[in-house]
Amino acid sequence: MNSLIDIMQLTTEEIDSLIDTANDIIAKPEKYAQACRGKKLATLFFEPSTRTRLSFEAAMYELGGNVLGFSEAQSSSASKGESVSDTARTVSCYADIIAMRHPKEGAPLVASMRATVPVINAGDGGHNHPTQTLADLLTIQREKGRLSGMTVGLCGDLKFGRTVHSLIAAMSRYQDVRFVLISPEELTVPDYVKTEILEPKGIDYQEVRDLEAALPELDILYMTRVQRERFFNEADYVRLKDTYILTPDKLDGAKQDLCIMHPLPRVNEISVAVDDDPRACYFKQVLNGKYIRMSLILKLLEVHVS
Ligand code: CP
Repeated sequence: MNSLIDIMQLTTEEIDSLIDTANDIIAKPEKYAQACRGKKLATLFFEPSTRTRLSFEAAMYELGGNVLGFSEAQSSSASKGESVSDTARTVSCYADIIAMRHPKEGAPLVASMRATVPVINAGDGGHNHPTQTLADLLTIQREKGRLSGMTVGLCGDLKFGRTVHSLIAAMSRYQDVRFVLISPEELTVPDYVKTEILEPKGIDYQEVRDLEAALPELDILYMTRVQRERFFNEADYVRLKDTYILTPDKLDGAKQDLCIMHPLPRVNEISVAVDDDPRACYFKQVLNGKYIRMSLILKLLEVHVS
């Protein structure tokens, strides 16, 4: 594998190895401080980002490498009509590895077919966000000590939330994981998630509307933002955006070792009053995102640190 477009390209053994390396980076950061000296990462972001772009950049700096790129399509020659393929081929002349976010599903895949360096999908439309999933898996492993044997609740916009689709795909390969899919009727997971991932593997899942009723059985609660940018109709967004708001009182019936996650950014889905609850893990997720991206960069650049 020399590009990462979809989390399913990685075997569970490869995911476990990326997590092991990330944990080693967390324990011994000095060991990795010069690992990518002389290497360059290009961040090509055709869509807004705070965490993904900056964590990729911080990751490369902390590995001793350098970073170049752009943070909006308007400041690149895409605004003059240049194709994703030509952009990828061009940037391959300047950088050793590319992280690309694009509003069009499949754009990073197209880029990887023309680039001569590894391409990492940093989010493509409502489709996939594999490095967020790696950050999520590292967080779950660090918080729960395992990736198997748990009930995972996913709540909010399960239709357009690309992080949800990637996380379900990844976790469905671990033993004894069941899913509670909590969403309004209009924002349920796409059919392919059920017919191509959950049902063929015989994975236990329920689709429900009521967050509070579902909470007591959950080991993980993964909240998501209603994805305004993917709606065709503003009125539908306004009607659905505040369907679920997690507040401290709603957590009364939840497990004491519940892990509350959110890929962020949040809008109203989690009250800031929840941030002080020891079960709130979403800012740990942010930090873990940097470490797992360091681990991934090392893997794709085939840099071995001993
Ligand atoms: N989680 C995530 O992808 O955040 P950004 O959109 O800020 O990168």
